[in-house]
Amino acid sequence: MNINNEIAKLDWKREPYGLYEPIEYTLAAGGKRVRPQLAMIASRMFDGKDEAVMPAALALEVFHNFTLLHDDVMDKADMRRGRPTVHVKWNENTAILSGDQMLIEAYKLLSGVPADKLPKVLQLFNQMATEICEGQQYDVDFESQEQVALDDYLLMIRLKTSVLLANALQIGAYIAGADEQAQDALYQFGIAVGLGFQIQDDILDVWGDPQTFGKAVGGDISCNKKTFVYLTALQLATTLNHSTQPLNHWYSQVLEDNTEKIAAVKAIFEQLGVREACEAVVAQYTQSALEILDTLPQNTATEQLRQLANKLHTRKD
Ligand code: IPE
Ligand code: IPE
Ligand code: MG
Ligand code: MG
Ligand code: MG
Repeated sequence: MNINNEIAKLDWKREPYGLYEPIEYTLAAGGKRVRPQLAMIASRMFDGKDEAVMPAALALEVFHNFTLLHDDVMDKADMRRGRPTVHVKWNENTAILSGDQMLIEAYKLLSGVPADKLPKVLQLFNQMATEICEGQQYDVDFESQEQVALDDYLLMIRLKTSVLLANALQIGAYIAGADEQAQDALYQFGIAVGLGFQIQDDILDVWGDPQTFGKAVGGDISCNKKTFVYLTALQLATTLNHSTQPLNHWYSQVLEDNTEKIAAVKAIFEQLGVREACEAVVAQYTQSALEILDTLPQNTATEQLRQLANKLHTRKD
């Protein structure tokens, strides 16, 4: 079975159109479909049937898209997947309510997993969903927090990003009947991939090409997000005996027009060699993710996960 075909089969031609059209708009815009892919690959690793894991795979993608609607309001982001975000094309109320409905649709889809698997799947999914909210709250809290420790940042991205990838893998493996040790290894692989994935996202938010990235660049700088790029800049400035004052100055500002701020901060990052340092850390996460895979059964699925880890950590979109 193919995830894109299954997503295309979901019918959003329902009234009121104001509620459902933004859902169709969001899901039709594509995206990498990483989470359902992970669930399906994990299931195939243990010879699971695509039909059994598909409800969970779809639920994970719809849930992910729900988080994006609300995240774009929270981050004041105007572009996603090369198109205006829902709160820009419609308005904030639409992003809130269509987002809420997507969360409900995700649970409706999830309820289609094999009945004997549903209780545990629900428990895992609920825990993941709560952790994402916790991560999103830390992310927002850190915007106005002057100092953020690297460990706190890592906890924040584990919660807002990694647990969804990890959960997709664990649920896929669980539905296919994998034992707990294998489920746990896949979960840990997902965590490592997710950390590298979010750091790469932080990098692309500064240096990505809006055409391929599909999002506006500089948004994290505008919001004073304490990203890995920013934290690395502070660390390098200290090591290289540069003053951190200019960075601190810019990250204390909340501005209407961010053009000058983005250019100035980017110049500081580049002077410090921040990009290279961040990319090296992403590569370390790729390495630790790949090592975890060595403990799992070796088949076509394992190879696909290897390739996916590499691809996601060097992605440009
Ligand atoms: C965006 O996720 C949110 C992050 C965790 C960085 P993706 O980069 O997977 O977005 P799509 O679904 O491919 O658009
Ligand atoms: C992604 O964080 C986390 C969630 C959407 C839950 P970002 O805010 O960095 O994601 P993008 O860059 O908007 O896709
Ligand atoms: Mg965002
Ligand atoms: Mg965000
Ligand atoms: Mg981002």
